[in-house]
Amino acid sequence: MSELANLDWGNLPFDYIRTDYNVRCYWKDGKWGELEVNSSEQVTMHMGATVLHYGQEAFEGLKAFRGKDNKIRLFRWEENAKRMQNSCNGILMPEIPTELFKKAVFKVIKLNERFVPPYGKGASLYIRPFIFGTGYGVGVKPSNEYLFIVFVSPVGPYFKTGFNPVNMLLVKNFDRAAPLGTGNIKVGGNYAAGLKAMKFAKAGGFANVIFLDSKEKKYIDECGPANFFGIKNGTYITPKSESILPSITNKSLEKLAEHLGYKIERRKVPLDELSEFEEVGACGTAAVITPIGKIVIQDTGKEFVYTNGEPGKITKELYTNLLGVQTGDIPDEFGWVTILD
Ligand code: PLP
Ligand code: COI
Repeated sequence: MSELANLDWGNLPFDYIRTDYNVRCYWKDGKWGELEVNSSEQVTMHMGATVLHYGQEAFEGLKAFRGKDNKIRLFRWEENAKRMQNSCNGILMPEIPTELFKKAVFKVIKLNERFVPPYGKGASLYIRPFIFGTGYGVGVKPSNEYLFIVFVSPVGPYFKTGFNPVNMLLVKNFDRAAPLGTGNIKVGGNYAAGLKAMKFAKAGGFANVIFLDSKEKKYIDECGPANFFGIKNGTYITPKSESILPSITNKSLEKLAEHLGYKIERRKVPLDELSEFEEVGACGTAAVITPIGKIVIQDTGKEFVYTNGEPGKITKELYTNLLGVQTGDIPDEFGWVTILD
């Protein structure tokens, strides 16, 4: 292996850092072309491309970890491939076949191996596959051409606090997605729709937002970039909603929690239940597990406090187990990890 890149591994932000290569594949004339390796960070396309006007774009986020044994482990890539296929279907883009997704992701990691952070620095390689419509037109219709790219970036924790409790604002005057809209797929438009709420929360000193269901405004939906969970009476509880992204981290935590002897409930979580939780948190690839120390309700200013500044016991246990499996410290009993050769 080539020597590791010269980066301050222990202090990486969750941001874009230039690496050596990205990989690209074009969809034209109804089929996928060959996977290409590229070292440019630029994309050239027609100014009338559907992505620029009608938002035809979907993306994924997954991580690779370097273990104590120096091996590179990729977490649950097949789940991301599947979800990306759902996203493509949701906004009428061609599906990326699982084999192409795999080839692209594995190749871009191998090509940028020197950017996979060393073990024990709290960092990982974030992998960002994305697809967008490059065909042009002015009428609203799906593009006839697409570009699928995967780039990578070594990253630290999404929330600057790392594994320390953050405060969240539960917003009532903003919606992220409609019940039968695109909230359950990973399309760029969802994130544009959430920007104002996020700005509002950050201006108030909060790390991020929690959205309510947009129909009844009674149930917890999810956080800006992550799912929500609460713990009470030895039960891991997480919202069931048609407008949230099915988080692969959350699904993994449900399995781990069950394995550790806790009960699991995936159901509607009424706002009132916030007063009953012993621990709450946000979970996602970028967020990993981020304990929530305090939730403030936007209109009433009512506060729910969960910690004395420390992550809760079960949250900690889940975090250790999740990271342990991802890095190879704990045996992968679920078949979640692929070791790259
Ligand atoms: N919810 C939203 C809106 C997200 O952007 C993400 C991140 O991907 C998640 C939840 C967590 O999903 P996952 O655990 O698959 O990364
Ligand atoms: C992820 O966790 O992978 C995400 O996509 C969340 C965020 C960076 C948008």
